[in-house]
Amino acid sequence: MITVSEDKTFALTNAHFSYVFRVSPEGILEHLHYGGPLADPLSVAVHHLRTQREVASNFQGGPYFSLSDTPQEFPSFGTSDYRFPALHGRNSDGNTVFSLHYKKYRIVKDKPRLKKLPSARGGNSETLIVTLEDPLHKLEVELHYTIYQDYGVLVRSAKFKNKGEKELQLQHAFSSALDLPPQDYEILHLHGTWSREFNEERIDVPKGRFVIDSARGTSSAAHNPFIAIVQKGATETFGRVYATTLMYSGNFALSVEKGEFEGVRLLAGINPFNFHWRLKPGKKFCTPEALHVYADEGLRGMSHIWHEFIRDKISPEQFRHKPRPTYLNTWEAAYFDVDEDKVLHLADKAKEIGVDMLVLDDGWFEGRRDDTSSLGDWTADKERFPNGIPALAAKVKAKGLKFGIWFEPEMVNPKSQLFKAHPDWILHVPGRTPSLGRNQLTLDLSRPEVIDYLFGQIDDVLSCGDIDYVKWDMNRNMTEVGSAGQSRNRQREVSHRYMIGLYDLLKRLVEKYPDILFENCASGGNRFDLGMLSYMAQNWTSDMCDPIGRLDIINGCSYLFPLDVTAAYIGPSPNHQNGRVSSIATRFNAGAFCAARGISLNEEDIDAHKVELQSLMKFAKDTAPDMVGGRFERLVKTNNEVCWQYSSRDKRTIYLAYFHILAAPNLPFRRARMVGLDPKAEYMLVEDGARYAGDALMQNGMPLPYVATGQVNNKVRYMTKGDFSSYLFVFKKAT
Ligand code: GLA
Repeated sequence: MITVSEDKTFALTNAHFSYVFRVSPEGILEHLHYGGPLADPLSVAVHHLRTQREVASNFQGGPYFSLSDTPQEFPSFGTSDYRFPALHGRNSDGNTVFSLHYKKYRIVKDKPRLKKLPSARGGNSETLIVTLEDPLHKLEVELHYTIYQDYGVLVRSAKFKNKGEKELQLQHAFSSALDLPPQDYEILHLHGTWSREFNEERIDVPKGRFVIDSARGTSSAAHNPFIAIVQKGATETFGRVYATTLMYSGNFALSVEKGEFEGVRLLAGINPFNFHWRLKPGKKFCTPEALHVYADEGLRGMSHIWHEFIRDKISPEQFRHKPRPTYLNTWEAAYFDVDEDKVLHLADKAKEIGVDMLVLDDGWFEGRRDDTSSLGDWTADKERFPNGIPALAAKVKAKGLKFGIWFEPEMVNPKSQLFKAHPDWILHVPGRTPSLGRNQLTLDLSRPEVIDYLFGQIDDVLSCGDIDYVKWDMNRNMTEVGSAGQSRNRQREVSHRYMIGLYDLLKRLVEKYPDILFENCASGGNRFDLGMLSYMAQNWTSDMCDPIGRLDIINGCSYLFPLDVTAAYIGPSPNHQNGRVSSIATRFNAGAFCAARGISLNEEDIDAHKVELQSLMKFAKDTAPDMVGGRFERLVKTNNEVCWQYSSRDKRTIYLAYFHILAAPNLPFRRARMVGLDPKAEYMLVEDGARYAGDALMQNGMPLPYVATGQVNNKVRYMTKGDFSSYLFVFKKAT
């Protein structure tokens, strides 16, 4: 997988890609190739071009070498490259000019894990570690590159070491830099906000710099930390794709810059805006991991690579391929109005309709009646839950259900015991009133005593042994980010130190409770990233539970994430977020391929739709094993139609979901060309036993249901007349 030539050309190659760079004659790490696998990757070094550039400054190597048109592995600023650098900061002389030169390399078997940050698991992998140094300022930078035998993912990170005797300061400490050759590219990225996460945007890579980032303290729904630079015109099945994400849940930046010579530089890492790290002599700083995927044939191939890797190497191993329980969540059923009787009543309802788990959402802890109080005080409310959570959990379990519970550990309301006792445990800056968000303040997780307190509080609840699931929420962006636990000149480290604290807390909890299924939530998808996913196998994708609102969200999310890590429930209609009225079936179908499926409906709604809910929850339970480890495909996505295919891991059950948003008369007949089937096999449609040839389903397509408007004809499969209709096909491989 990793080969190195005598004159120090490095090549990482597997069946998916080759990645090649060399030590240039000037001692710089020069990038040569990232793309499809090469039989002789070391040979690309020979064909490299150099010329004299007018105006450009020449790097120390001579007139034919300017860093401004040289693709590099880890560029810095101030020595003839004017593009945004991967390394920038203040050196021991107080100026900002660093110059990194090759020093040495080593190859380690497998993949070292990062100590304080989450990192991808190894296995059948090799890691190349190249050390660069700035001899003047005694800064060493280790670049880590891990390649796997079986995955199209390259994992990179950087480690900075101060080997000198004076302090250095880091401002840009990116995880990776990727200089792509001049070409017409587009960017695909996923933006949004609360209840509208994962909107897809495609734009041409402009001249200049385009950045998606976060300064909110969470990776955020505004921009998921994911970007794909694609060959112009790339589709699901055509075009070269270079995609990147970060294993980080805080302030990140993904910067794309098209320079004067049209090379495109992608930088991935911690957001340099408002970041500043003091590196004392002898100290190290490790960046989060950046993950890169190259795919030859469009976005479908890219997503397959991400999905497999995330499932196998990021998401907690013990839940890989483990069917998720169906559930009833109390949130949209009762909001804050929960007490022991009501929960037990809902548990009976849950049992009646056949779900596996009752989840007690917000509202169970001391004094919590609405969102103005009590976050921080994680003991059961004495009036509403006089017997405590362990007793309630035991009662729910005695009914044959699993039991789950909600926490929002990182927050405190000013109206709480915790805040009274420790007003300085919040993120704040001297002399300014901290801004509230949803009436709450953010705890200062950069302080070890806060982490210990939270661990103790959560541990107290979980240690009863009857908790199967925890929803870990986080409902505001951070402001006034400062810490009473850090000195004046380390205040700009607080955002990152917060993340280190959070990861430490999560690690301690999931190590103590490996069998509890943790679900990550931040007002929906405000912190849906690989960092959180490495501790929590499930993510609440969005508070948008209207099925039509959810379609875009799931579609966008699926570029990066396997739906194995997502959950969806049937919420009320009219929907509480956008007021849309939709059928129970469409509400279910929108989330049909999410691993965890459930409901959040009040008793009245449950009773009114009992039979349908029973049948859907039975279907969800029966198909739960299929919804982990399979393959999701985006077949059609227009403003009015969406069609997805999902194939179980054993490829024996194939699901096809079709959504027709607004009805119109006299529509064309549509077919969905299915993918990845066995062309020689027959597939039986479960609803009527009809058999379809695999090759015909792929080449000729499956006729999609028609929105009935005129007279019906029994040869055509119809959907309910009106808006927001959907249909779910299930095929079984028959031969
Ligand atoms: C957030 C979550 C919801 C729910 C509420 C409870 O908004 O996204 O699902 O848990 O908090 O307050």
